[in-house]
Amino acid sequence: MSGFNFSLFLTFVFVICSTVQVKAETEIFCIFMQRCILPCSFQGSSDVFIHWFQTKTESLRVHLYYNNMDQLGLQNQNFKNRTSLFQDQLSKGNASLLLTGVKVEDQNIYRCYCSTISGNKETFLQLIVDAPVSDIRIHQDGNRITCSSEGIYPQPELTWSTEPPSNTTLQNRTTVHQTEEKLYDISSSLTGPDGSDRIYSCTIRTRRNQRRAILRQKSVIVSSRQTSLSCSASNGSASKLLWRFNHSQVIVSRSSQSRATVTEEWKLHVKSVSESGGLSLQDLSPQQGGIYICELSNEEETLVTSTFLKVEDRGGTKRHPGVSMVVVAAAAVILCVVLIRRSRNQKGQNTFLIDSKLNFFNQLCIMIFMTQIFLYLTGLQLYEEATR
Ligand SMILES: *[C@@H]1O[C@H](CO)[C@@H](O)[C@H](O)[C@H]1NC(C)=O
Ligand SMILES: *[C@@H]1O[C@H](CO)[C@@H](O)[C@H](O)[C@H]1NC(C)=O
Ligand SMILES: *[C@@H]1O[C@H](CO)[C@@H](O)[C@H](O)[C@H]1NC(C)=O
Ligand SMILES: *[C@@H]1O[C@H](CO)[C@@H](O)[C@H](O)[C@H]1NC(C)=O
Ligand SMILES: *[C@@H]1O[C@H](CO)[C@@H](O)[C@H](O)[C@H]1NC(C)=O
Ligand SMILES: *[C@@H]1O[C@H](CO)[C@@H](O)[C@H](O)[C@H]1NC(C)=O
Repeated sequence: MSGFNFSLFLTFVFVICSTVQVKAETEIFCIFMQRCILPCSFQGSSDVFIHWFQTKTESLRVHLYYNNMDQLGLQNQNFKNRTSLFQDQLSKGNASLLLTGVKVEDQNIYRCYCSTISGNKETFLQLIVDAPVSDIRIHQDGNRITCSSEGIYPQPELTWSTEPPSNTTLQNRTTVHQTEEKLYDISSSLTGPDGSDRIYSCTIRTRRNQRRAILRQKSVIVSSRQTSLSCSASNGSASKLLWRFNHSQVIVSRSSQSRATVTEEWKLHVKSVSESGGLSLQDLSPQQGGIYICELSNEEETLVTSTFLKVEDRGGTKRHPGVSMVVVAAAAVILCVVLIRRSRNQKGQNTFLIDSKLNFFNQLCIMIFMTQIFLYLTGLQLYEEATR
């Protein structure tokens, strides 16, 4: 009895194994929206019948070839205009399929069936689709830091870390949203403690790759007409540089091959861009005050440095208060002279009256002069304090 059971078991194992063997698939990794080659080969013969199927749930016709030509009348709609064989390779027994514009839905098992007079051959492939993490963004709004990325497959993971490490868990909230194309958009917000000089870094990881975004904040820089802002230099492998103003306006962009391009609005203010990404600014006015963001990125990392610049209005439009003081003093002198002349001209009519009038004007003039000197000195002091 038990012997029978054992042989049954062995048969069972054999059936399972042989099934698995038939199904043994090669994994083919394809990138979303790119082209992908599904390899398949047969024993060379001029007259071949090739049938590519998608097999997982139901059998879908992907590509059919016989009588030395493609037969696409019954091709599944999903694959319209997206498949082709390498015609020049067929005589060498190469029945590989080129699939373009790979979609997430293409992730499936594929069967390549080839038939010639010398025999039949089946090949199974597992197509795996990846949409790697490409652009990763990090930005700060108040004490809230947000990190996000879009169009990822399969579902990514997001982690935060700080430098120096935080001894408390950070309040963070991550949301994941799947688009119609089955891709994942991810976004996470973290509420950072106020006034801390930490470096925040966010990593988004998926099967294919991972990318890290690092946010560093510089303290406020106060400048006059010109200044230099540094972009924290990474290990020199940065391939892309981007300077933005107040989050939206682009100032300078540079990719690995090209030279830095300064946008039209900033041509007057950008003096130079250094090798390490530093920005040298000139002819600044308070209008150029705001947040300057530098983004340096390479294959794995995006380094964001945010600097708040305050531009003080100094020199240019403010006139030295002494100038207006001199004008007022000169006017007062002329007024005094005119008044004294007039009173002298009236001399002879009433000496007593003229004398007292003269006296009065003299005193008035002395008072005006004293006030002038006082105002001038005070003004000068205020001006010097303001420009210090
Ligand atoms: C396939 O390509 C042809 C010509 O390039 C175009 O007219 C047709 O609309 C395309 N079909 C699909 C399903 O994209
Ligand atoms: C079949 O042809 C394609 C396209 O030229 C090529 O990439 C592939 O390596 C070939 N496969 C074999 C087995 O020669
Ligand atoms: C965290 O560190 C700060 C300063 O380093 C300290 O004051 C605080 O007590 C620490 N908190 C905990 C929970 O260890
Ligand atoms: C983010 O929040 C989760 C719980 O919501 C917590 O487990 C995790 O440690 C937090 N991450 C960081 C970096 O503090
Ligand atoms: C720079 O190099 C150091 C040591 O080689 C490494 O720890 C660090 O992560 C690198 N930083 C960047 C931004 O590549
Ligand atoms: C830039 O941002 C700063 C601070 O948020 C603001 O005061 C300034 O008006 C902004 N400048 C421009 C040109 O938008």
